Amino acid sequence: MAEYNRTEGLRKIKEGVIRGVGLSLRQERLKNKVFPVIGEGSHYAKIMFVGEAPGRTEAATGRPFCGASGKVLDELLASINVLRQDVYVTNIVKDRPPFNRDPYPEEINAYAPFLDRQIEIIQPQVIATLGRFSMAYIMQKFGLGHELKSISQIHGKIFEAETSYGKIKIAPLYHPAVAVYNSNMKTALKDDFKALSQFK
Ligand code: URA
Repeated sequence: MAEYNRTEGLRKIKEGVIRGVGLSLRQERLKNKVFPVIGEGSHYAKIMFVGEAPGRTEAATGRPFCGASGKVLDELLASINVLRQDVYVTNIVKDRPPFNRDPYPEEINAYAPFLDRQIEIIQPQVIATLGRFSMAYIMQKFGLGHELKSISQIHGKIFEAETSYGKIKIAPLYHPAVAVYNSNMKTALKDDFKALSQFK
């Protein structure tokens, strides 16, 4: 897909989220005068990271993973010599849930079509899910529901699936937030990230 079409497609996604028809957390966004977080990075990224939902810092800036979890993500990317500008980083839910609570299933359903279109436009070779909500959504979306187990059982494994544009790999990873105060978890994440090096 040509760059113009990618940029235009992603712009329309942004417009759709801002307008927010049918989006459950839109009222919270307007009430709190914060931003939706659409996604950021290369429109030709081979690696796409899909987190859960924006936190406070992300909603205040409109940028994904720019708070404490984002610092961990940056460190993990640096550990495999990947620049953040060369990957694409987004979330399933594009507006911040109040008090950072877990997203409800109906919120995931309301925002998922935007993520689906981001995947179709960017056409990554691998989707690395960050946390259990994006793991469950992406694995089910790509027909891997039968492989779903708890994240502690399948983190770091690489699954194969088909998309409309060819083969894709799915890599379920822990959410970087688990490593903010836990160095063992950071070590586990660093080990899992090594498997992403092959997609650089
Ligand atoms: N946690 C997420 O899942 N996404 C962000 O963008 C920030 C924190």
